[in-house]
Amino acid sequence: MSDTNTLRPAWSSMAAGLPEDVLGPILANGTKPGIISFGGGLPSPEGFPTKELERAAEWCLEAMPKRALQYSDPQGEPELRAEIAKYENGRGNPTDPDNVAVVTGSQQALDLAARIFVNPGDAIMVQRPTYVGALEAFNLSQPRYVEMPEDEEGTAPALIGDEADGVKFAYILATFSNPTGRTMTVERRKQLIEKAREHRFWIVEDDPYGELWYHRKPPVSIQSLAPDCTIRFCSFSKVLAPGMRLGYITGPKEVIRMFAKAQSYAVLSTPCITQLMAAKVMADGLFSYHLDDIRRIYRAHAEAMLAALDEFMPKHPGISWTHPEGGMFIWLTLPEGIDTMKLLPEAIEQGLLYVPGSTFYGNSPESHQMRLSFVTVSEEKIREGVKRLAALISSKL
Ligand SMILES: Cc1ncc(COP(=O)(O)O)c(C=O)c1O
Repeated sequence: MSDTNTLRPAWSSMAAGLPEDVLGPILANGTKPGIISFGGGLPSPEGFPTKELERAAEWCLEAMPKRALQYSDPQGEPELRAEIAKYENGRGNPTDPDNVAVVTGSQQALDLAARIFVNPGDAIMVQRPTYVGALEAFNLSQPRYVEMPEDEEGTAPALIGDEADGVKFAYILATFSNPTGRTMTVERRKQLIEKAREHRFWIVEDDPYGELWYHRKPPVSIQSLAPDCTIRFCSFSKVLAPGMRLGYITGPKEVIRMFAKAQSYAVLSTPCITQLMAAKVMADGLFSYHLDDIRRIYRAHAEAMLAALDEFMPKHPGISWTHPEGGMFIWLTLPEGIDTMKLLPEAIEQGLLYVPGSTFYGNSPESHQMRLSFVTVSEEKIREGVKRLAALISSKL
């Protein structure tokens, strides 16, 4: 297309104000052969149930092609909402199909949440650090961020004070968080609920990793403890496949109806065929064996990375890392003088990728941390990658 047109795009103030994407190009550059990537937060393709999804796709196209290829109910197909409700009840989350809205990946739920709750300048409370994709989705609604207090064990809701007054919702990754891998105790979950009631904000509980536990189930969901003031987002990306682009929201019916309305305005509907496929594999009992398979894969990779960190990382009081009990991430903290964004080009030269920690903050980023993602790298490469990373860090101490 010719670039000679003199009519410049007239961006909205929101689009014009979006920060430059510093990280995307670096990460894209870094996916060359030979690079060991602890960067992308992609689920392991080893865990995709390809045979079952193939059979389900065939079944949908043979048994109900006209329906599968049509637009669908903006709140989600009834079969899928019924399966989700059954599954969530089994996980200890009392849910009726009317309490469920299906979305095009839980990423869309984040976008819609900001759109239906936030006017420009309204406050969203976020953890330090938090999921960068949530910040990006929320930024389209021009919020400001209030950050949750923390102590040495992570997010510390008991310390929330008057800064929470007027906050529209608190966005919480309570279980196997992205980026830290940390899990909030039941006690801290209850403290958050108390603060939500005291300061009258909603809780948005983003829970895409809850099924990916290694040895024991995580604590009960915040929503199960406070269904009246919690909206929970779940995803099929980690338990089926991200290419399905399926996630769901559970919450009070009034809230679900608003999400369904916004969903209809935004995209008309989530693809019907992937919803019917997911309903079919769930009805056929896929999760009764498949979740254990994924847990086994993820546990082995996490153990390989933790063992390599123990073996190779320099013993230094400023160096520590989280020990996740599920999920896909380890959060590595370095001595304060080491800026992991500045270190990244050198890491890429050494054939290594990670995500610099400063990306994951709503306000006042810290620069001496990084997120390590381990599920798409083989155990052998994990060891080699951590060895290279440790050598690089040693050279900076
Ligand atoms: C915490 C968190 N929430 C939401 C998402 C979005 O997931 P999806 O849109 O694939 O359901 C991700 C993806 O990595 C995530 O890590």
